[in-house]
Formats: sequence, structure tokens, C-alpha cells
Amino acid sequence: MAIGEAGPRSARSGSQSKRLEETMRGRLGRECVYVPSCRFGLFVALRHWCPPGGRVLMSPVNDDVIFFVVLAAGLRPVQAPLNPFDGSIDIDAVPEGTWGSLSAVLTTNLYGNPDPAPELRARCDALGIPLLEDGAHAIGSEVGGRPVGAWGEASVFSLSKHAGAQAGGMLALADPSLAEAMRAGCDELLAPPRAASELAYALRPYAEAAVRGLGLRRAAWAALGLLGLTERDGIRMPLRPNALAEAAGAAPDLTAHDPWVRVDMHTYRLRSGPLRLRRIRRRLGRLDEVLQACRDGTELLLSTRWARPGEGSRAQPLFRVPLLVADRDAAIAALARRGIVVGYLYDPPLDDYAGKAFTDPSPAPEAARWFARHALPVDPLRAGEAVDALERSGVRPAEPPEDLTRPGTPADEPGTSADGAGAGP
Ligand SMILES: Cc1ncc(COP(=O)(O)O)c(C=O)c1O
Repeated sequence: MAIGEAGPRSARSGSQSKRLEETMRGRLGRECVYVPSCRFGLFVALRHWCPPGGRVLMSPVNDDVIFFVVLAAGLRPVQAPLNPFDGSIDIDAVPEGTWGSLSAVLTTNLYGNPDPAPELRARCDALGIPLLEDGAHAIGSEVGGRPVGAWGEASVFSLSKHAGAQAGGMLALADPSLAEAMRAGCDELLAPPRAASELAYALRPYAEAAVRGLGLRRAAWAALGLLGLTERDGIRMPLRPNALAEAAGAAPDLTAHDPWVRVDMHTYRLRSGPLRLRRIRRRLGRLDEVLQACRDGTELLLSTRWARPGEGSRAQPLFRVPLLVADRDAAIAALARRGIVVGYLYDPPLDDYAGKAFTDPSPAPEAARWFARHALPVDPLRAGEAVDALERSGVRPAEPPEDLTRPGTPADEPGTSADGAGAGP
């Protein structure tokens, strides 16, 4: 990674971000570097560990923003086969030939369900390639007796999620001696803080509370749409393949990919000011309480008929609990009537969304398609209300097609999923 002069960082912000780093170091037992967002930290990590043109195994059921971060880093996404019930990487279904072509493996730990990190670690060690962990959804989750984020050369976290700070991220490192180089690498890419953005951040919770209090959520969303301020008209953002191909020609280049990477968070590479850092610290201070509440809600949701049997015995403090429902749109509508908004949907999978021009497709795409189509990610902090709403609306559990429940599912052509749910463009 090209590393330039350290950018300006005020003493106050510097000491606040240090305190955040110490808090996360305490949780993970790893050296941490504060970053303004998870996606920014991931870009820095990919640039450091992967040579341009390298191939990265990743999950196709993931935020499209992360896909664009991989492209921005000048890398080729290689979509992994998934476990149809929790969206984790199905390590045994990755073809042998694929392993040898990879420069890195990137986990997702979708909704907080860990990918099989110990097995992936062993594979990566055997191949001499790095394991990078996206822990955005998985602060507090564990796998193989360690926290998610303590297996890879680097891991990234989003403080917008469990901590609910709507800003901030953390880059955690296996090798503490890399921290200063990472900080310098970040400094080179960060944009200076903007007073207007800090103010907007400070006012946002009050504005949101007012919209909620007045029952104006739907009207506010429609108004944003009319003003052209929403960048998604469906679950996935418009791909704009011609413009994306042009940006890819400049990769590795974060700025060229800004229009895709910044979606849902235009401040993703903005240096955090003291106000933002103070609020993040307050939120992070309450994280254990939130995680306990998430664990309780997760246990309740996993005890319902929409969860896979046996799931409840290994409850993590999930960020969202992916219930598997037959008719997801009806379930979303049932929750919406109670004021529960369902987000974090990743349908269709990235290979169906972006196509072969931008990614290697999964060799066994059906499981990812089925999961992406039927997963209803429910906020465990609203578990009781959600269960009640789903019960009253008669929402039915999804029945997995038989060929997904048998090991060794054959690969299908894209767009031919068993339940007709192939959602490719
Ligand atoms: C799996 C996953 N990783 C990373 C991110 C990006 O996190 P951030 O918004 O902090 O950049 C998201 C955003 O929702 C996500 O869902």
C-alpha cells in the first residue's frame, strides 16, 4: 500500500479515537485502529494484504457496498457457495481448483452467524493467503472459542450496527506492529471533517425521533425519494454497469468507486470529529447491555417455528435473526404494520446481481438464492412484538427444497432456482 504523510488529526479527536481503540482492544485482545466506517477499514485492509488483480472468496449474500469495496481495491470477487440455513460459507462446496486461485478469503458473519473461521484459517494457512474478517454484524459473536474478528490477519467492525452509533468502525490487527502503517494508510485516504456533517450527525437522532413521534416515517421516506436523496429503488442499488466498468479501469481507486461505496453512508471516509467520537464512545460504553438484550431476543426468535430446528442451542447475540419464511413480502408487511422496519436484505445474491463481467459466480448458487429469498432478518431487540405480528398474520415457515437439504447439491445454471425464485436481473 502506498503510504503518505499523516493527515491532520486534532489532539482532542486523537485521544478520543485512542480510547475507542482501547475499548475494542479489550474486547478482542487485538491491536485496533479507529476508522470512520467498516467499509473504509476493509478497503485499507484489502489494499494492504492483496495484490491488485487478486481474487477474493466472499459471500454472495452480502451488502452490495462490500462488493464495490472489493472492486475498488482492484480485486476480483469470487462468490462462495453458502449454507442455505444461515448464509455462512460452505467450505466443503468450494471447488479445489478455486482455493489455489485465491489471494484472500473474506468472511461476512452474516447477521452475526459466524462463518467457519477455524476451518477457513487452516485453509488460508495451508495456502499462505490472508483471512480477512468482516465483523460488521458480529461484535459479540464467537466461533471456535474466540470472538469473531480474532481469527484473521485483519478484521473490521461497524460501530453503526450493534453499537448503534450510525458512524465509526474499527480495524483490528493480528500483528500489532502494523498499526502505525495502517493509521498512516488511513490518513492518506481520509477526507477532512466537515462542520456541516458533524452538525447533521448531532441533530440526526432528534430529527429521527420527531419523524417517529409524528408517525411520519413513510411520508419522510417518500419526500426523500422525491428529492432524489435515496440511492436504492429496490434492495440492491442500481449497478450502472457501463460506469462501473469505467471505474474498474482505474482500480485500485477508492475515489473512482465513491458513487457505489458511499451508498447509505456518504460520510464513510470522512475523518470523525469530536462530536461523533464522543457519541460513539457513549454508545460503545453500553454495548454489553445491548448484546445481552440481543442474546435474549435471539433466543426467543430461534425458539419459533420460523427458525431452523436446533438453532436455539447455539444462540449468539445476533444483530438480526434470519427467520426463514415462505412469503417474505407478506412477513415484511406484517412487521411494517407494527412499525418494525426490515432492513439488511441482500437479495438477489451478488453473482445474480452483478453478473460474470464483475464477479466469478458461485459454483452452487441455489442455496444462496434460497436463503436470500426467504431470510427475514428480524431485530432481536423487538423480538416479542415481531413474533406476535408474524403469528397474527399467519406467516408460514419456508420449506427448503429437498436438494438443498442433501449434501453435494449439484450446481445449477443461474436463474433456475428450484422454487422459481432466481432473482437475477
Ligand atoms: C455485512 C456488512 N459489512 C459491512 C458493512 C458496512 O459497514 P459500514 O456502514 O460501517 O461501512 C455493512 C453495512 O451494512 C454490512 O452489512
